[in-house]
Amino acid sequence: MKVFITRELPETVFELLRKSKISFDYYKNDRPIPRKLLLQKVKNCEALISLLTDKIDREVIDKMIGCKIIANYAVGYNNIDIDYAKKKNIIVTNTPDVLTESTADLTMALVLACARRLPEGENLLRNGKYKGWKPKLLLGTELKNKTFGVLGAGRIGTAVAIRAKSFGTNIIYFDNKKNLKLEKATDARKVKLNNLLRNSDIISVHLPLNDRTFQYLNKERLNQLKENSILVNTSRGEIIDERELIRLLKRKKNISVGLDVFENEPKLNPELLKFPNVLVLPHLGSATNEARDAMAELAVKNVINVLKRKPPLSSVF
Ligand code: DGY
Repeated sequence: MKVFITRELPETVFELLRKSKISFDYYKNDRPIPRKLLLQKVKNCEALISLLTDKIDREVIDKMIGCKIIANYAVGYNNIDIDYAKKKNIIVTNTPDVLTESTADLTMALVLACARRLPEGENLLRNGKYKGWKPKLLLGTELKNKTFGVLGAGRIGTAVAIRAKSFGTNIIYFDNKKNLKLEKATDARKVKLNNLLRNSDIISVHLPLNDRTFQYLNKERLNQLKENSILVNTSRGEIIDERELIRLLKRKKNISVGLDVFENEPKLNPELLKFPNVLVLPHLGSATNEARDAMAELAVKNVINVLKRKPPLSSVF
């Protein structure tokens, strides 16, 4: 077996491998592969296609004798010890670009759902509590003329800003680098972090998870959020200190939060469900047929290239 795939993936993966006459095996289940089996399977492969739910740490990498590439089926690769893989001369690839539009769409869905209180509205109906139209029923907020803060102005942050601009918001962003594409497309202004936290009516988080961004939105930073603001996260749950977020929600009842990701996925802190102004989704950012097919294709093309001694298409280092 040349390629091991840790989960059943879109058919594209298998078709492309068959066409290239590359042998493969996969964990025929729609759940994360048990650790013990993963440790066993990686011993004999030349390429591994992994998912964000697989922890590819030193212990796993040490077993990967003869493995040339770890192709992660995700744009984020915080599940892989990339420094150690690099040390062991294993290429690591991810799936950038192809899920940008899907993730940006979902981000805007969360923003709009929070702004217009969609979960509260739907719950009213589901619980049989809707008694007819009222002038003050579930009043939300328009996006027009609001300040939209993009925290992390990479590919997805930029795509979100472009969407948000079309709703008439004023874009500000915080990133280590200036993003000219973003500025040109949206008249966005690069601001300091404190400025973004204090002045945004909507904050959308698009940071990669690493040692520097773990619990980046900590108590001090969360406490700077403006009254009535909306906080949305479609990146990684660990970027927000969830316990502090819950404390904040208890104090500032008018902040709305839309989370596609949370700290201990798939375990959700039940406290979060107690707030009507918190909307949680099960990590659906890239969950469209288009994105998932394209992710599959890119992951497998990376593998085929490397096995044929060609450069990968999207290496992370
Ligand atoms: C990613 O790719 O990192 C997303 O979180 C899942 O597609």
